[in-house]
Amino acid sequence: MLSTSKMPLPFRHLTSTKQLTRADTDAILQVAGEMEKVLGKGGDDRLRGKLLGSLFYEPSTRTRLSFETAMQRLGGDIVTADGLQFSSMYKGETIEDTMMVVGQYTDIICMRHPEQGSADRAAAVCPVPFINAGDGPGQHPTQALLDLFTIEKECKKLDGIHITMVGDLKFGRTVHSLSFLLGLYKDVRFTLVSPKELMMPPKVTSFFEEKKISFAQTEKLEEGLDADIVYMTRVQKERFEEVKQYEALKLKYVLTAEHLKGRKIVVLHPLPRVGEIAPDVDPLPNAAYFRQVRNGVVMRMALLAMLLGKA
Ligand code: NCD
Repeated sequence: MLSTSKMPLPFRHLTSTKQLTRADTDAILQVAGEMEKVLGKGGDDRLRGKLLGSLFYEPSTRTRLSFETAMQRLGGDIVTADGLQFSSMYKGETIEDTMMVVGQYTDIICMRHPEQGSADRAAAVCPVPFINAGDGPGQHPTQALLDLFTIEKECKKLDGIHITMVGDLKFGRTVHSLSFLLGLYKDVRFTLVSPKELMMPPKVTSFFEEKKISFAQTEKLEEGLDADIVYMTRVQKERFEEVKQYEALKLKYVLTAEHLKGRKIVVLHPLPRVGEIAPDVDPLPNAAYFRQVRNGVVMRMALLAMLLGKA
């Protein structure tokens, strides 16, 4: 067990951005700033002897590789399992039993799983610190934290930010997690651009209403371009019951260089993109999505170090 005095965060598991306070995000952003310097020097050895269990039961490139990169940049090691069909869960093992088992091998676990709520079930029994790396259409807190870090770096502020979120706001867990997080800051404004079928769910809009956070909903991308940030998202094919429905909605919004002419708006995307941002945006200074990717390693270094009491 970690001694509480060595834990800079008031929790042991990270499953949702709803558990975070402003004091937590301030501390995390500060450590991330320090980790950026550590990464710039190629890393250090503070997690030597520590083992990360990296469990991915749903496809991932960035999240998985950046967790594993972060662990190794801090001198730690990893053991991994991926693909439900290759794991004991396929034989019928419960999430709880998997945690009890992998928790005997490792010092910290990150898990991605297709079921919403799986992260809370895992954390409830996990004998070592647990990090949610995406639970179906539920939450993706580490992505939201790296988005927050990116917004602060790109815009030099968080209070007063106007952010436009575009695309699949219904199934996109990254926009859910980021909305709750930005709700901790002052005078943040949201413009939500989506087709009617993919609107932001009530779990988020009722949070906005409750906290008196200003938000506007529209189907027109053009109405969202007068903001500090435009956060593009992929339509989440894997969450649709019918492929036809997905096909009809998949490329409703495509951001091009033409949209950005004369604008300073910063373009973010959790990636992978599948056509929502035209390649002619890539060379523009507005395009921050590959800088955002690097920040993913930095943020995960910060979280691993903090949850292991080595910040
Ligand atoms: C996102 C995810 O998995 O929710 N990707 C990521 O973690 N970088 C977004 C997506 O898959 O569309």
